[in-house]
Amino acid sequence: MSAFPTPSGERILLSPPHMSGRERPYVDEVFETNFVAPAGPMLARFEQMFCEATGFPHAVAVASGTAAIHLALRCLGVGPGDKVWAPTFTFIASIAPITYQGAQPVLFDCDPENWTLDLDLVAEELPKAAARNDLPKAIIAVDLYGQPCDYDRLRALADPYGVPVIADAAEAVGSFLHGQHAGRGATCAAFSFNGNKILTTGGGGLLASEDKVLVEHARNLSQQARQPVPYYEHNEIGYNYRMSALNAAVGCGQLEVLEERVARRREIFEAYRQGLGNQAGVKFLEEISGARANRWLTVLTLPEELDSASIVAELDRYGIEARQLWKPMHCQKALADAPYIGRNVAESLFKCGICLPSGSAMVEDEIRFVIEAILSVWNKA
Ligand SMILES: Cc1ncc(COP(=O)(O)O)c(C=O)c1O
Repeated sequence: MSAFPTPSGERILLSPPHMSGRERPYVDEVFETNFVAPAGPMLARFEQMFCEATGFPHAVAVASGTAAIHLALRCLGVGPGDKVWAPTFTFIASIAPITYQGAQPVLFDCDPENWTLDLDLVAEELPKAAARNDLPKAIIAVDLYGQPCDYDRLRALADPYGVPVIADAAEAVGSFLHGQHAGRGATCAAFSFNGNKILTTGGGGLLASEDKVLVEHARNLSQQARQPVPYYEHNEIGYNYRMSALNAAVGCGQLEVLEERVARRREIFEAYRQGLGNQAGVKFLEEISGARANRWLTVLTLPEELDSASIVAELDRYGIEARQLWKPMHCQKALADAPYIGRNVAESLFKCGICLPSGSAMVEDEIRFVIEAILSVWNKA
């Protein structure tokens, strides 16, 4: 007997992997051809399918989204003593690679409406930094919870100062803004295929760009920076970051169902909004104007009198995995030295926001169960 009263008797997880069945023929092909290593035609196939789905001309598949961000920073020449501007309201993987390079993250608040990097703050700070001769070596923006950031506007702000923009689009595969896939318009964009993402390769990432030279440099760095000679020649230090062909095969099957996955996540978001949106003080994250977000996770803020941590703990007792929103990076001990520029928007979102189970395999009974559990928890609170 399961301990949980959920419709299936199983815990309802936040965003578990959702295999389609289309992955198997690709995986079988990898076995049959014995190209299982981080090399071979399946990697090129996955990269090509990703480019077709997103409109990026160039892509390299790597071991994780974190590795993709690290490679982006390396390719843009970020090194010790440099500053990199990045949002405070994100997952640690957006920021950690800055420190791998010995650079200093400068953490910016998020926009109170769309929760991505506050571009008004960036616009205010760029001329001041230029006057101090203290411009960042790069700016990272994050497509948070699948909400696409406006890279055209960010590039228009950063280009006059010669500052490149990295899109951390880890959560935003399948999101579009003004008809362009998330991350387009940035200097380069990093994606994640971690097990909890809208598509998974069973762990993996990808760096994409309009800039062929940048992507080819990242590809070389991801394979220990070997020179194209028959012996082992290295002109710089690289990494073992390439994706394996087995992971790429899973990714090919997943890419075939990307549009279905986005449609389902959006339906789940709408079902939650219908079930909970009329509760006083509840606010669902609105899509930025012109966007088709993938709604990777349904996220909302609660009335001020409710405490998100205790709501998450209560839902756990029903067998429901909900989560608080990202704890801001400037509130993390690990980043205590990082300067913070902002108005405490991210802190208040952390206090009052939650993510709801949003896996694309969720069935209607489960969505209804989550809604009813939330209402009964709120009414008790
Ligand atoms: C915003 C963000 N950036 C980066 C990453 C890192 O991706 P990965 O787990 O594939 O390293 C993730 C997800 O895990 C993420 O949510």
